[in-house]
Amino acid sequence: MEKRPSSLKRITTKKQAQKFIDEQVLAIQKQVGKDKVLLALSGGVDSSVVAALLNKAIGKQLVCVHVNHGLLRKGEPEQVIKVFKKEMKANLVYVDATDRFLDKLKGVKDPERKRKIIGKTFIDVFAEEAKKQEGVKYLAQGTIYPDILESKGVKAHHNVGGLPKGLKFELVEPVKFLYKDEVRVVGDTLGLPKNMVYRQPFPGPGLGVRCVGAITRDRLEALREADAIVREEIEKLKNVPWQYFCVVPDIQSTGIKDNKRYMGWPAIIRAVNTKDAVTAKAYEIPYKTLYKIRDRIVKEVPGINRVLWDYTDKPVSTIEWE
Ligand code: XMP
Repeated sequence: MEKRPSSLKRITTKKQAQKFIDEQVLAIQKQVGKDKVLLALSGGVDSSVVAALLNKAIGKQLVCVHVNHGLLRKGEPEQVIKVFKKEMKANLVYVDATDRFLDKLKGVKDPERKRKIIGKTFIDVFAEEAKKQEGVKYLAQGTIYPDILESKGVKAHHNVGGLPKGLKFELVEPVKFLYKDEVRVVGDTLGLPKNMVYRQPFPGPGLGVRCVGAITRDRLEALREADAIVREEIEKLKNVPWQYFCVVPDIQSTGIKDNKRYMGWPAIIRAVNTKDAVTAKAYEIPYKTLYKIRDRIVKEVPGINRVLWDYTDKPVSTIEWE
C-alpha cells in the first residue's frame, strides 16, 4: 500500500492549500509533458477538484468527460457545465446517456443488479468517449487517501467509474494522499463553488438506489423534484445534517383530490448524522421544516400524495433504502 509522505503536512488553511496546489501544478506538468489527460468528471468533490487542478496545470490538454446517467440530482449536470465549461473554460465533453441507462435498467428490481448495470454501462459509455479522443496517454482519477486505505479491506460498495478494461492509460492522481476535508479546502482555494466543495455524499449509482424497485421515468422525475425540495428546505437550517435526501418507493396508496380518489407514491424524507457512515443517527428535523417539506412536495410534485419521515438509525436500517 502506498503511504502518505511524511513531508505532506495536514492541510487546513487556504495558505497551506495554495502551497499544495503550486506543488501539484508543477508535478502534473512534469509528469504529463505535452500529452493529453482524460478525466471522468462526475461533479462530486474529488473529481471536481482534480479537474480544476489539472485545468490549472495543463489547460486544454485535459479532456473532462461528464456522463449523465439520468440518475443525477436536479441541477447537477447543468452546474458541471456552468462551472467547468462556461466559467473555467475547461475542455468538457458532455454525454447525455439517460436513455441508454434507463433502457438497460427497465424492469430491474434487484438493488445489486441495478448497481452492476449502472457501473458497467458507465464504463462502456466512458470507454466509447475515450476511444473518440486522439492521443490520450493519461487517465486522471479523483482517488483520495481513504480509498487507498479502504481498498486494503473489503470494499462495501461498487462505485461508478474505475479504469475501463482494454484502455491502457497511465494514472494521474494528484489528491491521492489527501483526506476529504483537505480536498475540500483545496477545492475552495481553487475557486470551486462552495455548494460543490462542501456538498453531502451522493452515491455513485445516484437516484437509482432511491427510486426503490424497478425505475420508471415518471417516478424518477417525481423523486428528483421531491429531493430538490428536501435539500432546499434542510439547507435553510442552522445545523445541516451529514446526509439528507428523499426516497420514492415503488408502492402506491390512495389519495383524494377534487373529491376524486387517485393512486400516488409516497415521498420518504431521510436525514442522518454520522462520522464514518458505518453507524448513523436519524437527524431530528424540526417540525416546522417537516411541515414545509410536506406542503411543498404534495403541492409541487405530480404523482406524490403522501409524505413520510424515515427516522430509523443505522443499524438497523442502512442509510440508503437499497
Ligand atoms: P448505507 O446505505 O450502506 O450507506 O448505510 C453508507 C454510505 O454509503 C453511500 N452509498 C454508496 N456510495 N456507491 C457509493 O458511492 C454505492 O453504491 C453506495 N451505496 C451507499 C450512502 O449514500 C452512505 O453515505
